[in-house]
Amino acid sequence: MLMTVLYAASGAVGLPVLAIKAKARLELSRAKHRSLTGHARMGRRVASLIPFYDYDEDQFFQSDDAPADVAARRREAFMRLSDLYRQRFPRSVALTKEAAAGVSDLQFTSHYRVPFQYSRVVQQYLPTGSFLASSSGVTVTDLDGNVFYDLTGSYGVNLFGHDFYKECIDRGAERVRDLGPVLGAYHPVMAGNVERLRAISGLDEVSFHMSGTESVMQAVRLARYHTGRSHLVRFCGAYHGWWGDVQPGIGNPTPADNTYTLADMSERTLQVLRHRKNIACVLVNPLQALHPNQPAPADSSLVDSGRKAGFDRAAYTEWLKALRAVCDERGIVLIFDEVFVGFRLAPGGAREFFGVQPDLITYGKTLGGGLPVGVLCGRGDLMRRYSPDHPVDVCFARGTFNSHPYVMGAMAEFLNRIDAPDIRDQYEGLDRLWNSRTQNLNARLQAGNFPVKVDNLSSIWTISYTRPSRYNWMLQYYLRAEGIALSWVGTGRVIFSLNFTDGDFEAVADRFVAACEAMQKDGWWWANATATNKTIKRRILREMWTHRRFLRFGR
Ligand SMILES: Cc1ncc(COP(=O)(O)O)c(C=O)c1O
Repeated sequence: MLMTVLYAASGAVGLPVLAIKAKARLELSRAKHRSLTGHARMGRRVASLIPFYDYDEDQFFQSDDAPADVAARRREAFMRLSDLYRQRFPRSVALTKEAAAGVSDLQFTSHYRVPFQYSRVVQQYLPTGSFLASSSGVTVTDLDGNVFYDLTGSYGVNLFGHDFYKECIDRGAERVRDLGPVLGAYHPVMAGNVERLRAISGLDEVSFHMSGTESVMQAVRLARYHTGRSHLVRFCGAYHGWWGDVQPGIGNPTPADNTYTLADMSERTLQVLRHRKNIACVLVNPLQALHPNQPAPADSSLVDSGRKAGFDRAAYTEWLKALRAVCDERGIVLIFDEVFVGFRLAPGGAREFFGVQPDLITYGKTLGGGLPVGVLCGRGDLMRRYSPDHPVDVCFARGTFNSHPYVMGAMAEFLNRIDAPDIRDQYEGLDRLWNSRTQNLNARLQAGNFPVKVDNLSSIWTISYTRPSRYNWMLQYYLRAEGIALSWVGTGRVIFSLNFTDGDFEAVADRFVAACEAMQKDGWWWANATATNKTIKRRILREMWTHRRFLRFGR
């Protein structure tokens, strides 16, 4: 329709060009996911309009208009939980409070464990300790001697259990101690790591960096350098570190003008890739297969029960194959960002798991054997940092601590150990094992009539909620009381290390069910029969509107 109007109005020679541009623009708009996450600029604008407000202690228990007896039950349970936290975690919490004044990261994470309206009361009564004393097996121990099953996964680093990484660090340090912290020249272990990584990635060359974010920066920079094109394509909701170009929406104060955020698993996206001439690369974070087009699920955004997840291996494999084909057709560089999932899904990572070979792969997290790292593997022609014909035309990349001997030592241990029979055994039937563990727990949750469901991508879980509620985020506090440690994003991302035995898993499942039982009994999942996720959202919008008006008048 728009095309017809433009064309009919033209008559002039220049307007067909305009019409072609408009068509391309329209195609791009249609390839964006319809959510705010898919519209970075709009997302940022909307975020800037949301006013701060929070609930007082009465509203806190009744924000869903629960009857007085339910609110009273919640209040009593909340205070009981608060007493338990106070008795159980005094030293961990005291040090966290003391340190928070000088640690901006702590302030941020403490603030964003739950939706902001509830945060003040939660921080007051259920403060969470952020310090730990030790780790062993599948557990961590806090400053008060409490032992937790560790489902934080150390942001995904912890794949084989804490003791595995302690050994990698210790033995790696022994290997490189004679050279020590010398930089610039390399310790010989580095050469061995390169050979192993070439085999694992199926690619020609390797570069070492200090974090996953930096390896992604380098991958995109090289793709731009070699294609001479400006834009990168990332998919709606995908995290690739905190560099501005891969984080165009909320969280980044400046616009990322050379980034297209397109819908994952969408034919319209393929159309854009086929037609646009300025696309250098496509960045894929295979973790998105668990929740395509949705951001990393954090309990701070768990305002209702709208969070959805579900992994369809066949469909995602088809999608990656389609991407591979269109990238080949158009000379676009296909990058798999395996910083999170690398080594977790299979010894050869996502490329082995899905059977699709990218042009560049980024790794990080677990590959450092417990020390910080980012790694880029790539095709030889794409990794070259200079032009043979134009000596001053280079693609610059440095980093003081790249290839640090201690990191290379721990990595060498990691790469050796994953070939050992005990570790190879853990990969055997991995997918089946975690799918069946997830199904077993889901069966227990269903039998207990709890509105909770677990979805998994191998050993990575996300928890969703099946009946509309405003209080699902409370589950993380019940889980903690049961001795389960979660990261600050709460039940959105739960990460197991592969050394959880069936016995360990059963113990976790028992505690999980116990937490749900307590949560149910204490009335948090009470819901008005007419409540839907939509009505909850509408109500929150109304609250925001009221506070926005109030703020304006207040000024
Ligand atoms: C897929 C992916 N890419 C990049 C990064 C950034 O890595 P780092 O935190 O080491 O900078 C992360 C971190 O979570 C990640 O999950």
